[in-house]
Amino acid sequence: MRARRISQFEPLLIALVGLPARGKSQLAHRLARHLNWNGESTKVFDCSEYRRRHMALYGTHDIFRADNLQGSAVRRRSAREAVTDAILWLKEGNSVAIFDGTNITREQRQELNGYCLDSMGFRILFIECVCEDQELLEKNIIEILHYSADYKAMSEEEAVDDLRKKLEHYMRQYEPIDGTVEEISFVRVENMGETVTAHKVYGQKESGILGYLSGMRTSPQVLYFTRHGESEFNAIGRIGGNSSLSARGQSYARVLAEHLSAVASRDLRVWTSELLRTKQTAAHIPAPKRAIRALNELDAGICEGMTYEEMQEQYPQEFAWRDQDKLRYRYPWGESYIDIMTRLRPVLSALEDEDNILVVGHQAVLRCMLGYFLDLKLDELPYMNVPLHTVVKLTARGYKYEVEMTKLPVECVDTHRKQPKNCSISRTTADALVTVPSHYDTLPSNLWQNPSETQL
Ligand code: F6P
Repeated sequence: MRARRISQFEPLLIALVGLPARGKSQLAHRLARHLNWNGESTKVFDCSEYRRRHMALYGTHDIFRADNLQGSAVRRRSAREAVTDAILWLKEGNSVAIFDGTNITREQRQELNGYCLDSMGFRILFIECVCEDQELLEKNIIEILHYSADYKAMSEEEAVDDLRKKLEHYMRQYEPIDGTVEEISFVRVENMGETVTAHKVYGQKESGILGYLSGMRTSPQVLYFTRHGESEFNAIGRIGGNSSLSARGQSYARVLAEHLSAVASRDLRVWTSELLRTKQTAAHIPAPKRAIRALNELDAGICEGMTYEEMQEQYPQEFAWRDQDKLRYRYPWGESYIDIMTRLRPVLSALEDEDNILVVGHQAVLRCMLGYFLDLKLDELPYMNVPLHTVVKLTARGYKYEVEMTKLPVECVDTHRKQPKNCSISRTTADALVTVPSHYDTLPSNLWQNPSETQL
C-alpha cells in the first residue's frame, strides 16, 4: 500500500470529497480549529474562493455543467491553484493543509493522490462527506444560501433555483469513493459524524483525525459564556483562591438569571467550574447544572491569592517573565495558558456538539474557550478582554460564530491587565505596575462605589 511508504513525519494533505451542501466546509474549518489547537499548524484552502477570483461576480449554475468547457476550465484551474497553495503551505514546514473542494470524480482523486504521494512525498487523506439526512441537508442548503458569496447579489428565489441546478450538475458527475477500485486512504463521514468509516487509514495524525470525526456531531446553535460575578478577591485585586461573590457579584447572579430567562431557550443547561464563585453565580438559574473541574481557573501556583502588586514585590523576575510570554509562562507549582488549553480539550470537544449551554467560567479559562471558537491566534488569547458581568453569546453561522456581548447593569471592578510596554527584568516597579487595574485594598462595607473614587 502506497500510503505506508510515506513517513509519519511528513506533512498531510486532506482532500474533501462530496456534493455541495454536504457539510464539507463546516467540517474543514472545525477540523482545522481542532488541529491548530492541538499544535498542528493547519490551514483550509477553499477551492470556491479561488474560483471566485476568476469571475468578477458569480454568474450562474451554468459553469458547473459538465459540458460547459469554459466553466470546467475555470474550475480545474481554481482547483490547481488551491492545491498549489496548499502544497506550498506544507513545504513551508506546516503540518496539515485541508483542500476544501468537491473532488467528485475518480480521475480527480487519482491525479491528486499520485501528485501528493509520488511527486511531493507527502501524506494524503480523503474525507468524503455524505448526507442522507434530509433535515440536515436542508439546514446546510439554507446556510449556503445565506452565507455563500456566490448568492450575495441574487434574490432568494433566484439563489434557491440556482443552487438546485448546481446540485443537479454535480450529481450527474459524482462518483462516490469506491474502496474496491480506488487505491486511496479515505474516511467517509455520513450525516456530519453520525457514521464514520475508515479505509486504509494509517498514521498518528490520521488516527487523531479519525477520533475527532467520530466524536463530531452537527454544529451547536447557541452557546453562552459568562465569568462568575465579581468575587471578594476580584474586588481587592487578588488572583485565584476560592472566595465567595461580593455583594455586587451576588447581585449579578440574580440579574443574570433574569436576563437568561428572557433570552435563552427553556432547555438551557449550565456548566460551572468546581469553584464557589461560579456555582454561586449560577445559583438562581432554573436549569440543570454540572460542575466541571477542567473549567477551574488558571492555577497561579506560588502566586495564588496575591495581588499583582505583591507579585511584583515578592517575585519581580517571575512577574517580568510572565509579561514577556504570558501564553507559555507557567507559574511555579502552577499552570500556564498552554496548560489550561490542554485540560480544556475534552470540554471544548463536548461543547462543540452541544446547544444551549451556559458556561460560567473564569477570566483565563474563558479567554481560551472563546479564542478556540473564534479561531484567534494563540498569542492573542492571554490579553483578550473578557470583562466581568458580561454575557457572551456565540451563534453558529455556517462554520463561523457570531459574537454578541451583553453587559448587564451591575457595577464591578475591571480585572484586565494589559501587557505593559516594558517587560524587562530590570524594569522599575512603576513600569511593571503601570497597567494594573484599580481595585480596593480591603473589602469595603459599601461596594457600590467606584474603586477609583475610594482607595489606592
Ligand atoms: O483576576 C481574576 C483571575 O481570574 C485570576 O484568578 C487569574 O489568575 C487571572 O484572572 C488570570 O488573568 P491573567 O492571566 O490576566 O493574570
